[in-house]
Amino acid sequence: MTPDLECDALTKRFGAALAVDDVSFSVPPGSFFSILGPSGCGKTTIMRMIAGFLAPSGGDIRIKGRSVLDVPPNKRPVNMVFQHLALFPMMNIADNIGYGLRRKGLPRAEITRKVGEVLERIGLPDIATRKVEELSGGQKQRVAIARCMVLEPDVLLLDEPLGALDLKLREHMKIELKALQAAFDTTFVYITHDQSEALVMSDQIAVMNAGRFEQVGTAQELYYRPETAFVAGFVGDSNRWSGRVETASGGTLGLRTEGGLLMQATAHGRPLATGDRAEIYVRPEAIRLARQDADLAQFDNRLSGRVTSLLFNGAASRILVQSDQGGPEIEVTLPQSGEFADLGRGDAVHIGWSGAQSNCFARTGAA
Ligand SMILES: Nc1ncnc2c1ncn2[C@@H]1O[C@H](COP(=O)(O)OP(=O)(O)OP(=O)(O)O)[C@@H](O)[C@H]1O
Ligand SMILES: [Mg+2]
Repeated sequence: MTPDLECDALTKRFGAALAVDDVSFSVPPGSFFSILGPSGCGKTTIMRMIAGFLAPSGGDIRIKGRSVLDVPPNKRPVNMVFQHLALFPMMNIADNIGYGLRRKGLPRAEITRKVGEVLERIGLPDIATRKVEELSGGQKQRVAIARCMVLEPDVLLLDEPLGALDLKLREHMKIELKALQAAFDTTFVYITHDQSEALVMSDQIAVMNAGRFEQVGTAQELYYRPETAFVAGFVGDSNRWSGRVETASGGTLGLRTEGGLLMQATAHGRPLATGDRAEIYVRPEAIRLARQDADLAQFDNRLSGRVTSLLFNGAASRILVQSDQGGPEIEVTLPQSGEFADLGRGDAVHIGWSGAQSNCFARTGAA
């Protein structure tokens, strides 16, 4: 099937600065594609080129197989939802949503029908005559999306559309947006610097850093098998050590951290050899907590230590453990089974993890 959107070696220079550097990707029809990256990495610049507000310095953009470089923004089959929604405060909701249809010159009756349909679709059938100021933040967000969807674009671009909402509402809108995307069966390209938004909603995520895509994959691929140290550090939380490879055989690495800890790790096909400097990443939930070392016999990495902090956060609670063998504190997920309910600061614990759950990367740059 022809992808809804393809970018091919897309590049944008501002003077000497490369804001977008040779980015290629393709988005299949009806899917939710996110671009995740830190502030200033070039996300909005990509969106503005797709929407046609900015001319690329190089590369091509195709929508449903056809290059749109020569197509002006108002003729492209894409619409964009911005972080600051820009609903028209003087118009009621129906007029806001119908705005683009009126500009296209559709008959009044057809506009009314389409607006009614789309209001139904976003679950707000009774707000047509309300004013913008009479809606909640989440409702305004849905209206902003409805205003774009009523134009039936092939691709909807969303630039941090939840940025202005409070945390609780963002959590709710994540689920809502995913449901809206499925209901409209339209391709969404969503940009955010919030990894949890990207992980929850997306079919595919591109992790972007300094103008380039570091990795494109499903949430699970990025989370469990990051291809670069940047992705490992940016997506989810990890314990991280710097060290050196002491042995490498049969895909298993023996490492010594700068703090002197010895660790086993699976290479996962990454090119690491004896003597290489390495970064080691292990997620807090990959580490098992136990009262005695004997309970951790199945793990090739085991340490003893003391609890230095309890970070209670419901189901996401963690502890910090200072290992008796030295090195930085280690963050460990606290099981909610009740078994550790009375755990306190200063308690002696044992921790263990499988080297297969580690991700190691060769360390480049200065020591
Ligand atoms: N019109 C412009 N002229 C010069 N530089 C620009 C222009 N627009 C963007 N830039 C620069 O290009 C880089 C990428 O900007 P962009 O807005 O794409 O980042 P972003 O990933 O969307 O960041 P944020 O998450 O903060 O919105 C930044 O360094 C920015 O300063
Ligand atoms: Mg931006």
